[in-house]
Amino acid sequence: EKDVFSKLPLKGKKVLITAGPTYEAIDPVRFIGNHSSGKMGFAIAKTAANLGAEVYLISGPSHQQIKHSLIHRINVVSAEEMYAEAHNYFKDVDIAILSAAVADYKPKNVVDQKIKKKDASLTIELAPTKDILASLGAIKKQQFLVGFALETNNELENAKNKIKRKNLDAIVLNSLRDKGAGFATNTNKITIIDKDFNEKPFNLKSKNEVAKDIINEIIIKLHA
Ligand code: CTP
Ligand code: CA
Repeated sequence: EKDVFSKLPLKGKKVLITAGPTYEAIDPVRFIGNHSSGKMGFAIAKTAANLGAEVYLISGPSHQQIKHSLIHRINVVSAEEMYAEAHNYFKDVDIAILSAAVADYKPKNVVDQKIKKKDASLTIELAPTKDILASLGAIKKQQFLVGFALETNNELENAKNKIKRKNLDAIVLNSLRDKGAGFATNTNKITIIDKDFNEKPFNLKSKNEVAKDIINEIIIKLHA
């Protein structure tokens, strides 16, 4: 049966999305970052909002722009800030999709003066950042929790390990072996794996189309 909301399947739902890279400060003028554009996460945010969801989009430094009455953008810089904001919103959401390319390591000590050019080599000691996705998996209740995995080898096995290790409901696997997948591109090729290890491969598509596939899968799983 159809109801008046049938075109807005996410009306009344709250969705948390992380997107973009994080920047980890070395000194006041330098950082460790990565080439994530934020495109995938922003496309997911737009798709979810267009289907009626209230979206909390926590974004690292990104040139992406977005304007939608249902999207609340929260800008962060570092993994530590993204962790804090993600935990801020997680308790109240129905769905969390963590697409950000979070730095795995940060400089152990942030120097408060610009590091001067001096010796023939420079060593910067790194310490691990907190795993935001795993930390949410460890406290999850009603939330449908989706992670991403970017892999270059043993893709399916690595992605499945992440589902278990981080207590996820599903993972979106990007293989860098697939042409047209990755950071700077407008296209992506994904496989969605659920917590029972069912694999669903998709064709190479625009990131907007991929976002629709991801949201569609989540809606199907929520209704199952
Ligand atoms: N992630 C996160 N916090 C981190 C690192 C990763 O929330 N500090 C999330 C990413 O947003 C993504 C998922 O974890 O949804 C997997 O990221 P990925 O880099 O593929 O996996 P890692 O667990 O960091 O392992 P590795 O980089 O060694 O493959
Ligand atoms: Ca990583």
